[in-house]
Amino acid sequence: MYRIGVIPGDGVGPEVVREGLKVLDRAAEVCGFQYERVEFPWGSDHYLATGELLPSSALDELRRLDAIFLGALGDPRLERGLIERAVLMTIRFELDLYINLRPINLYAERLTPLKGVGPVDVDMMVVRENTEDAYVGIGGTLRAGTPQETAVAEMIYTRPGVERAIRYAFELASRPDRRQKVTLVDKSNAIRAQEIWRRAFADVARDYPAVETDALYVDATAMWMVTDPARFDVIVTTNLFGDILTDLGAAIQGGLGSAASANIHPGRVSMFEPIHGSAPDIAGQNLASPVGAISAVAMMLNYLGDVSASDLIQRSIRDLLKQNQLPGLGVTGLKTNRVGDMVVAQMERLAGQPA
Ligand code: IPM
Ligand code: MG
Repeated sequence: MYRIGVIPGDGVGPEVVREGLKVLDRAAEVCGFQYERVEFPWGSDHYLATGELLPSSALDELRRLDAIFLGALGDPRLERGLIERAVLMTIRFELDLYINLRPINLYAERLTPLKGVGPVDVDMMVVRENTEDAYVGIGGTLRAGTPQETAVAEMIYTRPGVERAIRYAFELASRPDRRQKVTLVDKSNAIRAQEIWRRAFADVARDYPAVETDALYVDATAMWMVTDPARFDVIVTTNLFGDILTDLGAAIQGGLGSAASANIHPGRVSMFEPIHGSAPDIAGQNLASPVGAISAVAMMLNYLGDVSASDLIQRSIRDLLKQNQLPGLGVTGLKTNRVGDMVVAQMERLAGQPA
């Protein structure tokens, strides 16, 4: 019996979460597990109605769960970044979800905007450090709005914080289903403080002699992801660079709506979300792709140890993408709820068939 917290959030969040839960419910029936759903209202509507961002009891409630499923946060009616910092970043930091794991997989050549690139070329795992860097919010603005306006933001890297992300990446690359390669991505030529990443990387690499290593600057990485994505297996990088590179990765695999992520503290309650934002421009219109949210549910089940349920969902998505039946390059006009129905129908077809 899993206890799963659900934060539908803002914009298209509730719409894609609904489809994720539809798939989760079907997976529970087909694969024979049970779960209890605990819904939380946090988000912009809730804030505007009640003045509450994240109540003080929230983190303890979340700690008692097995996993959290989040839709999206962000609303143009509020001060920029307010709800993202108060809910999303607070949960990531306070639950110490130090890994943001973001798979990039191309399932059909047709889905990528890149030329001459197919599924064998795009199979990477981005390990984004999730608790440090410019995201910690140290800094501020002086004399705002005057000709002397001065703004400071600090990037923080601690040896334990950097090392645990790097170690996670090496463990991941060592798994039999990976290609035993880790690429460190930083900008240590310009940002000298990032030399800490190079030192920690070299030290951790010594514990994994079978894993091939590479180190690239982030600008070159953006170029290589487009010109030769096959060179990447596991990427480990800073919070900010991981944020940027995974939007690029999502575009390469078939669009922002298709990508999922796991905010993980191994062994503790962890949080699963599509990587896209709240997309207020299309909210409430049943237009958003729920593929990223449904993939996030698959990542959640994998994390909880229900590998067969996770695989069933992943295979269903992959089959439908291959058959050109899900939103992606060239396929438009599919309604959000219809996509969830199609994934459920494919799960039913696949259930009982050998993998
Ligand atoms: C993401 C998002 C967030 C981030 C925003 C909403 C703060 O872009 O999860 O990638 O930058 O981490
Ligand atoms: Mg992002």
